[in-house]
Amino acid sequence: MQIQEITLDRLDPQRFIAEKSRTLCDAVGNGLAVNALSGGVDSSVVTALGHQALAGRLKTYFIDNGIMRKNEPEQIAEQFGKLGIPIEIIDAKAQFFAALKGLSDPEEKREAITQTFYKQVFGELVKKSGARFLLQGTIFTDVEETVAGVKRQHNILAQLGIDTVAQFGYEVIEPLIELRKPGVRKIGEALGLPYGMYNRPPFPGPALAARVIGEVTPERVALVREATAIVEQELSASGAFQYLAILHEDKVTGIRDGRRDYGSQIEVRCWESTDAKTATPSRLDFDILQKISARMTAEIPGVVSVTYNITSKPTSTIEAV
Ligand code: XMP
Repeated sequence: MQIQEITLDRLDPQRFIAEKSRTLCDAVGNGLAVNALSGGVDSSVVTALGHQALAGRLKTYFIDNGIMRKNEPEQIAEQFGKLGIPIEIIDAKAQFFAALKGLSDPEEKREAITQTFYKQVFGELVKKSGARFLLQGTIFTDVEETVAGVKRQHNILAQLGIDTVAQFGYEVIEPLIELRKPGVRKIGEALGLPYGMYNRPPFPGPALAARVIGEVTPERVALVREATAIVEQELSASGAFQYLAILHEDKVTGIRDGRRDYGSQIEVRCWESTDAKTATPSRLDFDILQKISARMTAEIPGVVSVTYNITSKPTSTIEAV
């Protein structure tokens, strides 16, 4: 299937919402659809769009896969609750960590997350709920990069020729697939979402696993989660497109309290970009970088070194995995 991009200059948000709502209603009929909210811009917008169109015929789950940011499941469920959209949190931490155990290859980790998400956790939920449709916030950039072989986005299935009906028992509907991120934000605004929700920096489907180089264990995720919280606190006012922390696989020699301390190293990345296709590192104030480094080494046990990525995408990517 060839997907045509709707560029920002051609996007009429109200018309887009009306058309997609009609398509959704026609497809789902009197049936039931489900979707998974991650709290990122794309899944938040698709959740709001889906609930506006389908109301009680859409059930939204937040899958707590154990690799989300600090307090994320509870905070997101509360924010949507305030909008009148009920969210059910599903605790699937054990299943995801079991699937990720022993894996360090980036594509294998992504595949493990995809399979656990679609086949195990979602497959079960869909079966239990009786839903035949899965609403998903795939966007144009995801398709482009997957088809080009740049990266296997976890939410691309049909584009890879995977028949979800045959394999998982449900049909995937992707209302945002013709839009890039700025278009998605426009739809979020037109849907009346709070500014902070549709203007959040993007967050990857594989969550913090995209920021852990090497094996994704509960302990290593806990470490990168703390580092992420610090980066987000310190850089939220930077106006940058995206900022994140990565946990390296290699340990390095450091020094603490006059003793050599063989510890972890964190890499900070902060990006200027409009569509995530290309990106350049932000020219951050050195004082901010030093503050981030001081906080990480003081607040996160075992961290002895913090670096800042100065490479553009390409050749770097925004995430590390
Ligand atoms: P990369 O790391 O490929 O990321 O330069 C480009 C943009 O996409 C986000 N990202 C993902 N989003 N599923 C998503 O929905 C994924 O599997 C995924 N991987 C990366 C990333 O945060 C950046 O904004």
